[in-house]
Amino acid sequence: MKKKGAIGIVGTGKFVPTKVLTNADLEKMVDTSDEWIITRTGIKERRIAGEGIAAAFMGAEAAKEALENAHIDPNNVDLIIVATITPDMQFPSTACLIQSRIGANRAASFDIGAACSGYVYGIAIAEQFIKSGSYKNALVVGTEKMTSITDWKDRNTCVLFGDGAGACVMRKVEKGGILSVHLGSDGRNAHLLEMPGGGSLRPATHETVDERLHYCKMSGPELFKEAVRIMVGAGNKALALSGLKCSDINLVIPHQANIRILWAMAKKMNLPKEKIYLNIDRYGNMSSASTAVALAEACREGRIKRGDIIILDAFGAGLTWGAIVMKW
Ligand code: ACO
Repeated sequence: MKKKGAIGIVGTGKFVPTKVLTNADLEKMVDTSDEWIITRTGIKERRIAGEGIAAAFMGAEAAKEALENAHIDPNNVDLIIVATITPDMQFPSTACLIQSRIGANRAASFDIGAACSGYVYGIAIAEQFIKSGSYKNALVVGTEKMTSITDWKDRNTCVLFGDGAGACVMRKVEKGGILSVHLGSDGRNAHLLEMPGGGSLRPATHETVDERLHYCKMSGPELFKEAVRIMVGAGNKALALSGLKCSDINLVIPHQANIRILWAMAKKMNLPKEKIYLNIDRYGNMSSASTAVALAEACREGRIKRGDIIILDAFGAGLTWGAIVMKW
């Protein structure tokens, strides 16, 4: 898929809950250690959304900041795409709940399910809608309350995840914009990362609760290998479509699942570590919100300047992946 054109991001925003869960806190909950978590994952702490705070609230806060940053009134938003695997509820969509919270009453709104790649998928979808002329201003949100599907008795997974949301506003731009998009998926590996309970196959029963099926289940080491291969492949494919080289990249905004995945990716792509934006130490893996928050923070910190070449690169459950090269 190759799209050269002037559709770009004109504003970003983020929201993370104030409550911090440190590795020291986790040491009191499961048989783990700060040292193990830092060396195996790069995570030092993560944010936890309290009771009553869920995907729609966090997504709306991030969306409001993105709209302010873009100087766009909610009434001028035509399209809202929300990436989440932790919706407030099965239906209505979290996109509709966010629409109502921010007062974007003219917009069409829907959720997408591409797990950690969801924000990249959302940007790719919005680009097509804007390019086709269907819509002018799109809001893309990645929002997750991962701690709502975290098994706090499973040390293999509970140390990894955190909560948060990020958002961006997209429209036609005069300069820069998206240079190339590559999306992919491989359903043959769907079993590597899943939440088996609560869907139409295994609706909630006493048994599904007793069997702890309403939590995220993960085959960590298998996923690790796939993740490195996929992120390198997706990044290289998007770069090839854009006609650029690795050395042209100013900053990589990757999905933040494990710092060792990112260092392995950097090595294989011959990218200096300084060109990889990191916030996994502070937030852990926030699924679709990881790339969204990382992009918003990189902008605020001045890590991305006008004219820079950046690449978003994500993988997640499905398996899914996506990479987007853009000129800022
Ligand atoms: N604390 C201490 N020990 C632990 C912990 C823990 N929190 N978790 C696992 N261990 C132990 C294991 O039990 C195992 O012990 P054993 O050798 O006695 O059996 C040992 O540590 C090594 O376990 P591994 O699973 O082999 O550890 P690994 O180095 O692979 O790290 C990890 C595990 C961090 C999960 C890694 O495999 C990983 O990051 N995988 C990819 C995760 C990922 O990409 N997820 C994507 C999610 S994206 C989305 O869509 C939500």
